Amino acid sequence: MILLVSLFCKNKLSQFLSKFDSSCNEILYYHNHMLILGIETSCDETAVALYDTDKGLLAHVLNSQISLHAPYGGVVPEIASRDHLRCLLPLIKKVLSEANIKKPDVIAYTAGPGLVGALMVGSAVANGLALTWNCEVIPIHHMEGHLLAPMLENEKPTYPFLALLVSGGHSLLVDVKAVGNYKILGTTLDDAIGEAFDKVAKLLDLGYPGGPEISRLAEKGIDDSYNFPRPMLKKPGFDFSFSGLKTAVMLAVKDLKKQGKLEKEKANIAASFQKAAVDSLIGRTLKAAREKNLKRVIVSGGVGANKMLRKNLKKCFEGEVYYPRLEFCTDNAAMIAIAAAHRLNDKIKPSQIEAKARWPMEQINYQMRSKNG
Ligand code: KG4
Ligand code: ZN
Repeated sequence: MILLVSLFCKNKLSQFLSKFDSSCNEILYYHNHMLILGIETSCDETAVALYDTDKGLLAHVLNSQISLHAPYGGVVPEIASRDHLRCLLPLIKKVLSEANIKKPDVIAYTAGPGLVGALMVGSAVANGLALTWNCEVIPIHHMEGHLLAPMLENEKPTYPFLALLVSGGHSLLVDVKAVGNYKILGTTLDDAIGEAFDKVAKLLDLGYPGGPEISRLAEKGIDDSYNFPRPMLKKPGFDFSFSGLKTAVMLAVKDLKKQGKLEKEKANIAASFQKAAVDSLIGRTLKAAREKNLKRVIVSGGVGANKMLRKNLKKCFEGEVYYPRLEFCTDNAAMIAIAAAHRLNDKIKPSQIEAKARWPMEQINYQMRSKNG
């Protein structure tokens, strides 16, 4: 009898608790839960992701345009826009059906910086779908996407941290106090680091994009074969410059060509260039972390996929180092969706097509925007 009563009570209790549970979930749903569709079309990758603020990343897909641009040795903006137009809607359909979702609660899209025609495709599609689905949009800064990409991982950095953002268009050191509280400590005075990798790859007749090609070839070379300069290492401040390094490589290549030794020396050139570039990125990063007393560093952006950079920074830095997984270092839409998850207060009604080729990162700071009205 006692057993029956206790079973009955346990049953009632769990029924009661389950009701409580579901009402809690409902409250959570209405107040916090958001399903975010992320769209990235700033350069040569069309990417879409679906992020659930409770469950995390549900799906992400990407169509790379590398094979379309490779014959030209770099991105052709017109080809990029046309291919985004061709791929974007099918990729959105794919992601929604993979996750078995009819429509998201909010659409996040890259509004800049990037190729303006390419950005307009993402922005127009995001705003058009938001009107159809009666939902809101969040325009995201591409570099904030890279900056918050480590938040997609299980091991996330806590604030404050130093961000080394290294891509095809940017080399930035950012003092990150919180979301929307960014201070740019250093930037490139000339080429971005990814651009330097791409240009050196071109000099060596390697494929496009150059970063992964240089890195692959460098594994077969000796990295102190050539004493290339470590730009800016002794200069005050935290800016980067890679044109001197690029010129030094160009002169060495010219010389080797004249002597008919280039083919034999390509791997050594790639390894020595990569070592000089990585040394100079790490040198500036360690200096910034030391002078700003920051104990955590994150590295993101396409060049953040470089194995030597990842390994050597972990070895040299006494604090904690965080990276997104390799596929989220290079351009992707998961980073746009997670950035939006951190900026849900910035939701707006679909109204205008935002596409900014240039967009200084500090303009997205909360205090800066309110100061500017
Ligand atoms: O972030 P990302 O995909 O696109 C931009 O926002 O620019 O970065 C692309 C850049 C290219 O310059 C590419 O050569 C470089 O990242 N990259 C690499 C590696 N993987 C991509 N550079 C060095 N090592 C790599 N493993
Ligand atoms: Zn990028």
